Amino acid sequence: MIMLIRQFQAQRMHAPRDFQSISPEPICVEIGAGKGKHALLFTRNNPERQLIAIERTREKFLAMQKQHALEGQSNLQTVHADALPWVVHALYPAQVEQFFILYPNPEPHNPAQRWANMPFFEFLISRLQTGGTITLASNIPEYIDEAEQQMKALWKLPYVKEVIPQDSARTHFEIKYLERGELCQQLIITKPEGYSTRFDEFQPLHGQNATAAE
Ligand SMILES: C[S@@+](CC[C@H](N)C(=O)[O-])C[C@H]1O[C@@H](n2cnc3c(N)ncnc32)[C@H](O)[C@@H]1O
Repeated sequence: MIMLIRQFQAQRMHAPRDFQSISPEPICVEIGAGKGKHALLFTRNNPERQLIAIERTREKFLAMQKQHALEGQSNLQTVHADALPWVVHALYPAQVEQFFILYPNPEPHNPAQRWANMPFFEFLISRLQTGGTITLASNIPEYIDEAEQQMKALWKLPYVKEVIPQDSARTHFEIKYLERGELCQQLIITKPEGYSTRFDEFQPLHGQNATAAE
C-alpha cells in the first residue's frame, strides 16, 4: 500500500533535553542504536569516520555509554534522545554520509511508526549528502517489502536489497534473529545526484524551543 503523507513539521520540534549542537563536518548517524554494538564496531573499523549513535531508551543508552567508556573510540559520540527532534536541531543539510537504522521493530499495527512511511523521512533525506546512504535492516519481511514499495513509488530513491548473511553479528537483535533462523534483510538506499526535498534549505534549530520541551 502506498501512503500519501503530509509534510513534516520540522520547525515545531522542541529541542531535546540538554541539547548540544554539533559542527557541520561530514558524519554518520545511527538511529535507535540500542546497546551500541554496531556503533562500537563501526567506529573501530572506520577510524576515519565520525559516528553519532542515538538511543532514546535510557537503560540501553547507559549500556552503550558504559561500553564506549571501556573501548574509548574518539570518533564515536553517543546521544540519549529521541532521534526526530535531535536530527532537526543538530544536523545540517547534506551533512550525513550514512544513516543506520537497524532492526527498528515498529508496533506491528501502527504503519505510521515505520520509518519509510513517516513524513520525517523526507527530512532525513534532506540531511544526506548526494551519494549518501540509509541502511534499513529488519527481520520482518513485510517491513522490508513495504519500505521497498515506498522507495519506488513515493520517495523515488534507488536502493539495493540484501539478505544478511547467517554469520553477521552487527547488533544484539541481529544475533538473536539469526540464531532463531529468521530471514534478516536490509535496504541500502542512496540519495542520487540532483535529488531535492522541501527541507534542503532548512538549517538546524540549534536548541531553539528548549523552554517548551517537556
Ligand atoms: C529493536 S531495538 C534495536 C536496537 C539495535 N539497533 C539492535 O539492532 O540491537 C530498536 C531500538 O530503537 C530505539 N528507538 C526507536 N525509535 C527511536 C527514536 N525515535 N529515537 C531514538 N531511538 C529510537 C528503541 O529505544 C530501541 O532501543
